[in-house]
This record gives sequence, structure tokens and C-alpha cells, in this order.
Amino acid sequence: QDPRIATISSAIRVIPDFPKPGIMFQDITTLLLDPKAFKDTIDLFVERYRDQNISVVAGVEARGFIFGPPIALAIGAKFVPMRKPKKLPGPVISEEYSLEYGTDKIEMHVGAVQAGERALIIDDLIATGGTLSAAIRLLERVEVQVVECACVVELPELKGRERLGDKALFVLVNGS
Ligand code: PRP
Ligand code: MG
Repeated sequence: QDPRIATISSAIRVIPDFPKPGIMFQDITTLLLDPKAFKDTIDLFVERYRDQNISVVAGVEARGFIFGPPIALAIGAKFVPMRKPKKLPGPVISEEYSLEYGTDKIEMHVGAVQAGERALIIDDLIATGGTLSAAIRLLERVEVQVVECACVVELPELKGRERLGDKALFVLVNGS
């Protein structure tokens, strides 16, 4: 394993019982306070994706907006925000996904991507995989090829990876 992974992992603070009893919250804000660990995080993604002809980095609101843009700049791709409903001002396409109770949606501007582009989807964390699976559907509906999804942290007990079907998922840290 890359020696940088251990420092990244130890820079992520785990807060028990947030936002609800029994949840061990993976707090990436402490990773952002450590410039070396934050840079290592971005570098590991950049090293993996720089030579893969990716023209789109799609980041999921809110925490995908922290990690996506520096990766996009470094690999020479555009950054496309996937936002919570009713935030984007122009025409959008949207995808629904299920939560523990009810559903949520993410939206993307029409025209932000073109059919045939190659995309990387970035978020901070995969739990149930609902968010990332909606992001994949959104891009595939407009015939964009999703090369991979990448997260800083995976919670493997929640089996989110299975919800992504045959789509590749790359994660740095196991947050079990
Ligand atoms: C968290 C996290 C991921 C998502 C993962 O975001 O940042 O986006 O949940 O969960 P899933 O795999 O079960 O879909 P959240 O919607 O809580 O809010 P935020 O990023 O806007 O803080
Ligand atoms: Mg999120």
C-alpha cells in the first residue's frame, strides 16, 4: 500500500453518534486542515487519472465540490457540479435516489457535457451507494462514459459498491 494512505487515513476524524446515535461520522474537514495530507489525497487521484483521457470531472454536492476541482485542474478536465435540487439556474436533468426514509435528487445542467465524453465521478465518501449510482445514471443518460467513481472513504459494511453494478469504484481509505 502507498505510504501516503496511512497519513490520509489518520487525518480523517471519526465522530461517534453524529448525526444520529450509532453513526460513526467520517469527518474529512480535519483532512483539509493538514495541507500535506490534503495534497497527498489529490495527488493519488491525479496519478491514477492523468493519462486516462478524462475530459469531465463530475463532483457531487457538497463534499465532492472540495475534492473534484483540484483533480480536474490537475488533469486538464472540466469540472461539472452535480447539485441538490433547485440550485442550478439553467435547464437541468435530474436523477432520484432512495434514502433511508424517502428520496433525494441530484441535478446537472443540460449542455454541461457532450455525448461520448469520458467522465470521472468524485465524492468524499460512499455509504449505501445511492448518491453515486444516481450520478452514474445522470451521465449515462446523456451518453457520457463513466470511466470510474472515486471517493476518499468507503464504508464497506453498507455494500454501496454492489449498488454501482459493474462500474469501477476506487477508494483510498476504508472507513469501517
Ligand atoms: C454524504 C456523502 C456522500 C453521501 C454518501 O453526503 O458526502 O455524498 O452522503 O451516501 P450514500 O452512499 O449512502 O449515498 P450528504 O448527502 O450527507 O451531504 P453533503 O455532502 O452535502 O454534506
Ligand atoms: Mg455528499
